[in-house]
Amino acid sequence: MKLYTEICDLLGIKYPIISAGMGPVSGGELAAAVSEAGGLGLIGTFGCSYEELFREIKLARERTNKPIGVGLVFPPEVKEGLQMPDEKTLMAITGGRPLTEATMNLLRYFSGGFEKMLEVVLEEKVPIIVSGLGNPTDFIPQPRPYNLVIAALVGNCRQARALEAAGVELIIAQGYDAGGHTGNIGTFVLIPQVVDTVRVPVLAAGGICDGRGIVAALALGARGVLIGTRFTATPQSRAHIKFKEELIRAIDSSTVRTKSFSGKSMRCLRNRWTEEWERKDSEVLPFPLQAAKSDVMRGFLDGDMEYGCAPAGQVSAMVKKIMSAGAIVQELVKEAENILTAGVI
Ligand SMILES: Cc1cc2nc3c(=O)[nH]c(=O)nc-3n(C[C@H](O)[C@H](O)[C@H](O)COP(=O)(O)O)c2cc1C
Repeated sequence: MKLYTEICDLLGIKYPIISAGMGPVSGGELAAAVSEAGGLGLIGTFGCSYEELFREIKLARERTNKPIGVGLVFPPEVKEGLQMPDEKTLMAITGGRPLTEATMNLLRYFSGGFEKMLEVVLEEKVPIIVSGLGNPTDFIPQPRPYNLVIAALVGNCRQARALEAAGVELIIAQGYDAGGHTGNIGTFVLIPQVVDTVRVPVLAAGGICDGRGIVAALALGARGVLIGTRFTATPQSRAHIKFKEELIRAIDSSTVRTKSFSGKSMRCLRNRWTEEWERKDSEVLPFPLQAAKSDVMRGFLDGDMEYGCAPAGQVSAMVKKIMSAGAIVQELVKEAENILTAGVI
């Protein structure tokens, strides 16, 4: 039995598998490899400049003529237009330590950088935007330019209902198990509730890394999956090699949900930083200033696994080797189709 649902037609892809937008980890190379293999690859924007985003879109298009998407976030802080903290404030927050360029880009995103990013995405006519936070329809011009499809991650039924009413075509139910910013409800419990709440197709995210997970998500009513952590451990991901190696070593208790990296709850690999902050939760600065405090992009790209942020889901323990993104898509499809053909019991 073929792994195919109606979202394949909606997105112009062969298999209902999307690789997540993961900040600078998921550049054009990773997105292109996933799309070329028949899934949909997303380019992440967190920590990138708009010039980099343009470059990564161009790179992806040189590698594949299949559709690619972009992951953006639209939290209230973007709408409010935060002021970039001045140098003195930044110095006070960081204790004088210079921030990595990627963390500076993240702060710029909330003080005007976001608009430039969205402009690049629309000018480049990227066919799919996946929103990681907030309400994208507040920002995207109406009527929709070209045949743009908007998908949005949600962590509960209230958000799913609101985003469907706002005109989002695809809802991605992302459970507590997921890497990165997450809500409070486990994936297995969240998917069927969101499926019962909205009429638009629902995708599942959080804790899926093999064919079993895909079939389980389909059985719960999802029409496809979005996967992050597994695609971090690929040669095409821009995560530092130490980050990838740490993922491979992870066991079931290696991740923790913490506000200490950004100010919002994020699931990451447990390390000295997360342990030190367990004792000083009340000192966490509001999002996104805590990201300056932690220099959040350090672990992603510079490989500081002791104090840096390495977003990763509970599924890290099941990621056993670094493997090419295209081969992962093929393996996922084969495993899922075998189970669908054989039946579950
Ligand atoms: C390394 C990493 C970085 C992430 N960065 C972002 C991000 O910048 N924006 C976002 O919306 N989600 C981000 N996420 C969350 C993913 O979009 C996705 O929801 C999640 O990875 C799915 O769960 P899984 O990791 O269990 O597959 C990130 C996840 C990981 C693992």
